[in-house]
Amino acid sequence: MKFFIDTAKVEDIKKANDMGVICGVTTNPSLIAKEGRVFEEVITEITSIVDGPISGEVKATTVDAENMIKEGREIAAIHPNMIVKIPMTVEGLKAVKVLTAEGIKTNVTLIFSAPQALLAARAGASYVSPFLGRLDDISMPGIDLVRSIADIFNVHGIETEIIAASVRNPIHVIDCALAGADIATVPYSVIEQMTKHPLTDIGIEKFQADYKSVFGE
Ligand code: E4P
Repeated sequence: MKFFIDTAKVEDIKKANDMGVICGVTTNPSLIAKEGRVFEEVITEITSIVDGPISGEVKATTVDAENMIKEGREIAAIHPNMIVKIPMTVEGLKAVKVLTAEGIKTNVTLIFSAPQALLAARAGASYVSPFLGRLDDISMPGIDLVRSIADIFNVHGIETEIIAASVRNPIHVIDCALAGADIATVPYSVIEQMTKHPLTDIGIEKFQADYKSVFGE
């Protein structure tokens, strides 16, 4: 399983990229709004940091296929690594079909069921994004969705990649890896949590103390 970072905050993207653990970035309208920056400006900056798939979503207020297609073409023109993120609606699927035929890659987002994922794949999506944490939030095990989609895609030889999204903690990450997600998109805070273990800290302290006791500083 590969990692993308799920943020529009360039400092966090730089930190994760410097660690060598991410190979792509996902954003959404809420994450862009949180940074308070112009979409094209922040996306262009992100493409200069990470050399991999960068998902940029059509405007949250755009609900019809025609305008999603228009915006999708504009997003794709920003950089060859751009992936157009499209919400899982009937209009969204129509837009995915057209953009795919033009060679533009798409990521169908807000996936909350296996039938939605299957339709998005058949419309031509390069990626589907099931939202694990938001299902957990309403007491439905999000990981079951990721596993079902992975099973269906395997059985039918579907090449659409699964981006496990709405990943909130390191246990989610491991569950996604075991369930067969191709990618987990995670906030920087989760990457940071994943680096930590109390025995690592204790081990470093002991190595330092033992070393200093014989060789000094
Ligand atoms: C995915 O692409 C979304 O940007 C994201 O993972 C949503 O996460 P949240 O449910 O924590 O907002």
